Amino acid sequence: MSIDFSDQVAVVTGAGTGLGRSHALELAARGAAVVVNDLHNPANDGPSSAQGVVDEIVSLGGAALANHDSVSTPEGGAAIVEAAVGEFGRIDVVINNAGIVRDGSFAKLPLESIHSVLDVHLRAAFYVTQPAFVKMKEQNYGRIVFTTSGAGLFGNFGQANYAAAKTGLIGLANVLAIEGARYGICANSIAPAARTQMNEGLLGDLTDALDPELVSSMVVFLASRECEATGEIYSAMGGRYARVFTGLTTGWFAGFDNRPTADDVLANIDHINAEAGYRVPTDVTTEVDELNAYLREAQG
Ligand SMILES: NC(=O)c1ccc[n+]([C@@H]2O[C@H](COP(=O)([O-])OP(=O)(O)OC[C@H]3O[C@@H](n4cnc5c(N)ncnc54)[C@H](O)[C@@H]3O)[C@@H](O)[C@H]2O)c1
Repeated sequence: MSIDFSDQVAVVTGAGTGLGRSHALELAARGAAVVVNDLHNPANDGPSSAQGVVDEIVSLGGAALANHDSVSTPEGGAAIVEAAVGEFGRIDVVINNAGIVRDGSFAKLPLESIHSVLDVHLRAAFYVTQPAFVKMKEQNYGRIVFTTSGAGLFGNFGQANYAAAKTGLIGLANVLAIEGARYGICANSIAPAARTQMNEGLLGDLTDALDPELVSSMVVFLASRECEATGEIYSAMGGRYARVFTGLTTGWFAGFDNRPTADDVLANIDHINAEAGYRVPTDVTTEVDELNAYLREAQG
């Protein structure tokens, strides 16, 4: 194993089950001290799911701490990060993984389903990542992974709340990649598919192939010192890994002296849509680079 997390501390949210559990186990197996976060209802008998994962890590010789704060409040996010720093002295890796689904077609989606899903996925990513980002800046090092979804990147019937929350994370990651660059902080996103309690019975023929551990391989790479990628999105499922990106087509330029109308847009819509020669801007200024080039040309 060359990727190693010795002397590093990782937080994995929603890590009592499913993908988060798998990420936590793999990070710990490679030497990270891991804060295993997940909800726990004290009224339930027995140890929490997070404590179960911690026990598993410790029995394999690793270091871990269970944390039961909710990601969906600012106090919870701060407490999760404080648990890492208080127990292990630093925070190198944050895997924003906790999640819920409350599906329903848009016209009938109750307000509660909109708020709860935005809270657990999108607001929570701010609550957990912001205090971690402050520590990472002080340390001049950090790796942040967000868990997005194909449902947001590409769309899926009945998941307007989930899709919006998951795609909001992409905007957050894009900005953290830019703001974190000078502090050695990388921020990336994964769009996974794996068999977990979240999608039980929904995966059909692919169920056996969609092992959560196959997603963790990409997550652990993105969490590592070796990862230099930032602001990227990777699809990871069933052993297939692929990059997802936002592209800008070459488009159609009307010329600075023209005032194109809606009819001109209609006449040129095929050019505007054509994918040949597309570019992948790294920030908002590179989006307008081409227009600046046209301007310089026009000014001679
Ligand atoms: N499984 C998939 O195919 C798939 C596909 C796309 C995206 N995802 C995303 O991957 C992540 C993990 O999902 P999973 O499939 O392992 O589901 P899962 O239900 O097994 O795990 C999610 C965990 O998050 C925890 N959680 C929920 N609310 C929380 C809160 N407020 N605070 C702390 N923990 C909380 C849950 O208790 C649960 O253990 C989610 O963000 C999900 O949206 C999963």
